[in-house]
Amino acid sequence: MKFKPVKTAVIGAGMISGIYLENLKNRFSIIDLVGVSDLVDAKAQAQAEKYGIRKMTNEEILSDPEIELVLNLTYASAHYEVSKSILEAGKHCYSEKMMCLTLEEAAELDRIRREKNVMFTVAPDTFLGSSQQSSRYYIDMGIIGKPLHADIALSRGYFMLKSDADDAYRKYSVVREGGGIPYDMGGYYLHQLFNLFGPARRVCGFCDTHAANRPYLNPRHSSFEENFFVNTPNRICASMKFDNDITASMYISSEHKVTENSFKIYGTEGNIEIGDPNDFDGKITLSLPSGTSELPLTHPFASNSRGVGAAEMAWSLRLGRKSRLTYEMSYHALELIEAVRDCTSDMFVKELKTDFERPAPISRDAYGGDCEERSLYL
Ligand SMILES: NC(=O)c1ccc[n+]([C@@H]2O[C@H](COP(=O)([O-])OP(=O)(O)OC[C@H]3O[C@@H](n4cnc5c(N)ncnc54)[C@H](O)[C@@H]3O)[C@@H](O)[C@H]2O)c1
Repeated sequence: MKFKPVKTAVIGAGMISGIYLENLKNRFSIIDLVGVSDLVDAKAQAQAEKYGIRKMTNEEILSDPEIELVLNLTYASAHYEVSKSILEAGKHCYSEKMMCLTLEEAAELDRIRREKNVMFTVAPDTFLGSSQQSSRYYIDMGIIGKPLHADIALSRGYFMLKSDADDAYRKYSVVREGGGIPYDMGGYYLHQLFNLFGPARRVCGFCDTHAANRPYLNPRHSSFEENFFVNTPNRICASMKFDNDITASMYISSEHKVTENSFKIYGTEGNIEIGDPNDFDGKITLSLPSGTSELPLTHPFASNSRGVGAAEMAWSLRLGRKSRLTYEMSYHALELIEAVRDCTSDMFVKELKTDFERPAPISRDAYGGDCEERSLYL
């Protein structure tokens, strides 16, 4: 190969590490995957054996002068400390989302990456995938005329514990800051919005948790049916304004039994519906006055390509060009969620002064037939 592959290691050998290791090892020639570590040695050992790489400790990864790029695939509450150690070791870092839990932590990571002159980017990288790049291609070519509005909704069930044994996850990921849905699925939807329209300029909305005190529902969990406190917002409803008069509304919530999602862009000439931005191959449906049709995917990475963001970083490193994944874009997502939280707590909203009585429902007693009008009498 003309370009020297970038020696890469992974910290965190949990659930999502499999697809990353698979792709980094076998799919991207620009990556030379050498090792994996985890707090739980056995997890790192198992993944190292499976993918024919070295089981390492965090310290071994950070002190290896040959390793240039390290992926932080730990859970959200560990992101800050682990990314910080990677950056301080002078290595480029790709972290799973979200970057960290607070803007102060993000600012500190920014300071270190600048001081060390290394790249620091954050998932999701799904916006580089086929469906999201194809939809951008169609919208940029004007297939729906001028885009005016994006409407996003995601409902899903409560983000439950991963396993009974994973106490760290129980303590920090779900209950504490950073474990709620805005910081998890929110990242995918926001990154696709940014991919389509650039940075949001203004935002307002509400961010809260429907029922903060709730019982553990997993019968296999030692605290089954005991209550715990969800100290992180678990639903977000945001209104955004982008450049060029584009608006977006986004509702993302993990307080529902039904899992459903939609991502629709309304243009002056037509509308486009794209799939879940968590996926690489979502369907794209175009609606024009003449009818509705499915559009073909035009771009690569239609299969599960997690790790494509790290490959993108590696290519940008070797080619001396800017990476499509940037610290700034991830920070923008974090900033947006924080801004909505501020709106909620500081009431940066117009309070409506008038009130009215909700109309009484129509009676069901006179359903259908000739006597329908009776329902107005009741
Ligand atoms: N699981 C998914 O479907 C999925 C999908 C996309 C993204 N993600 C993201 O990927 C990240 C990891 O998720 P996961 O599901 O694999 O979590 P996980 O809990 O299964 O794995 C995280 C691993 O990190 C290890 N770890 C924690 N702190 C560490 C440290 N300081 N040093 C070394 N290892 C450490 C843990 O021991 C654990 O094995 C999260 O940010 C999550 O949001 C997960």
